[in-house]
Amino acid sequence: MQMRRMLPKTDGMLRLVLAAVPASLALIAPLAAGAQDSISDELHADPRAAAQVIVPRTVEEAARIAKVTAPTTDFTKPERYETHPAGAATQFDVLGRDAFAIPSANMSFERELDFQIGNGLFKKLWASAPSSTLASDGLGPLYNARSCQVCHVNDGRGHPPESAEDDGVSMFLRLSIPDEASDLDAETLRYLANAPEPTYGHQLQDKSLSGIPAEGQMRVTYTDVPVALGDGTQVSLRAPSYEVADLGYGPLHPDAMLSPRVAPQMIGLGLLEAIPEADILALADPDDADGDGISGRANQVWDQEAQTMMLGRFGLKAGAGSVRGQSADAFHSDIGISTSLHPAGAGECTAAQTACLAAPDGNTPAQQNLEASDPVLDLTSFYARNLAVPARRNVDDPKVLRGKRMFYDAGCTACHTPKFVTHRLENQLEQSFQLIWPYTDMLLHDMGSGLADGRPEWQATGNEWRTPPLWGIGMTQAVSGHTFFLHDGRARNLLEAILWHGGEATASRETVRLMPAADRAALLKFLESL
Ligand code: HEC
Ligand code: HEC
Repeated sequence: MQMRRMLPKTDGMLRLVLAAVPASLALIAPLAAGAQDSISDELHADPRAAAQVIVPRTVEEAARIAKVTAPTTDFTKPERYETHPAGAATQFDVLGRDAFAIPSANMSFERELDFQIGNGLFKKLWASAPSSTLASDGLGPLYNARSCQVCHVNDGRGHPPESAEDDGVSMFLRLSIPDEASDLDAETLRYLANAPEPTYGHQLQDKSLSGIPAEGQMRVTYTDVPVALGDGTQVSLRAPSYEVADLGYGPLHPDAMLSPRVAPQMIGLGLLEAIPEADILALADPDDADGDGISGRANQVWDQEAQTMMLGRFGLKAGAGSVRGQSADAFHSDIGISTSLHPAGAGECTAAQTACLAAPDGNTPAQQNLEASDPVLDLTSFYARNLAVPARRNVDDPKVLRGKRMFYDAGCTACHTPKFVTHRLENQLEQSFQLIWPYTDMLLHDMGSGLADGRPEWQATGNEWRTPPLWGIGMTQAVSGHTFFLHDGRARNLLEAILWHGGEATASRETVRLMPAADRAALLKFLESL
């Protein structure tokens, strides 16, 4: 088979994906025809609870939920429960630097101990193999960082490099070549939108163990883009351009595509995972049937754990279906640590990277012949699922309420969906049946050529990004010490983030650009209260 030719060049994950996709095409064939509701649902259950049970909604409950999640029309006072963006999981205790580092407020004492162990694992600095601490070795050989926390600093977002000396560890480049450049058959390519860069794989690792060349260094340069606001005020945006310097393994493929990604904030992820799939799909309008200029498409991704296609929820293009899957991908590609989902000890090295493949790995019988055993992955995922969203501030401030009205009037809620109610989950009480306010529809939107990375990912096109949740965004300065926003951190404040909106969000952006200065200030004040 043609496909075989490229298999040895790819990492374990992709090999499995390629092997598995054709078999599963029959299952997902109806999706191609637009029957999005047939995506297999609810595969995200906490793996630690083997008998995960979702209690179905009663008709009466569904009616009640439709009522509480309907968009408000009253901006004279805060809505009920608006102070609690994560429902009972909302944390009210800590503002400031640690505001994102607190467990779900409704967590039992016993589970909090697991959370603390997970916290330790999230911060743990992995070492090269062999080392005296067998439970902590296996780093790399190629990697971007030695721990999760290095990128998700204080459980918040990362940032682009701020100077030539800043090595920008909290962001990386995803790599690939267009699928037409590969030999895969057309049917497979429908689902796999790109192939990994043949020599470098699907992510640029800028660090390596000694004796093994690193893959290269991301370089970013900015060009000023002037924008005039309606009242004549001049604003300057910065448009980035990316390249890779110091390539360790020869030139990139001539068609290589680079996708810059800043590490996102880590709060409320378990709640986003617990939003019923049907409620997300109900918001999708792939062909813009309602003619409002906003489509919204669900990504469909291969889930390594469930061995099936599922709704994509995590990652900046919704390229991962579950918190556990995304965490295993991070161990594999970002740190070079094997788990049961990516068992190869060599991490993300390709067949062309022989020194990397030949280096000792940390797979050890004490860890199920892996570098990180299932308990390590489970506890890390449990932690990632349970970082609490901080309480809203100033919800009843008249300026915040006015800004909230602007947010609705400008059409921001067409993508930044204010409210959902999560599933009833018997074994995941922290996430169970909560009214949440994430301000995302979890869908992909065409944001225009200005923001495009030109690199498709599963069903996402090179122009599309997943609507990011806005909860907690007002705490960015306090937690992360900066206000760099958007997928690559190009926006230096909230207004710049809005002014970059294009594509489906053009009308929204223009409303903000042209609105009276006081309304715009109120809108920003509302965002800062989230
Ligand atoms: C080198 C930097 C880096 C390291 C190290 C890192 N991450 Fe991430 N993380 C990212 C980036 C960038 C993304 C967005 C990925 C994408 O768009 O595909 C991300 C996304 C995530 C997400 C999805 C969040 C969302 O809102 O969709 C989770 C969960 C996550 N990481 C967990 C982890 C865990 C657990 C570890 C450690 C095992 C880890 N990360 C290590 C950079 C990093
Ligand atoms: C068509 C859908 C859509 C509409 C309408 C929309 N957004 Fe967004 N928004 C997105 C997407 C997608 C992104 C991520 C883009 C990226 O990272 O390149 C985003 C990013 C953002 C961010 C940065 C978030 C972060 O974590 O970096 C802010 C702030 C924001 N939007 C606010 C608004 C406001 C305010 C409005 C209304 C004026 C609005 N958006 C309208 C889809 C939309």
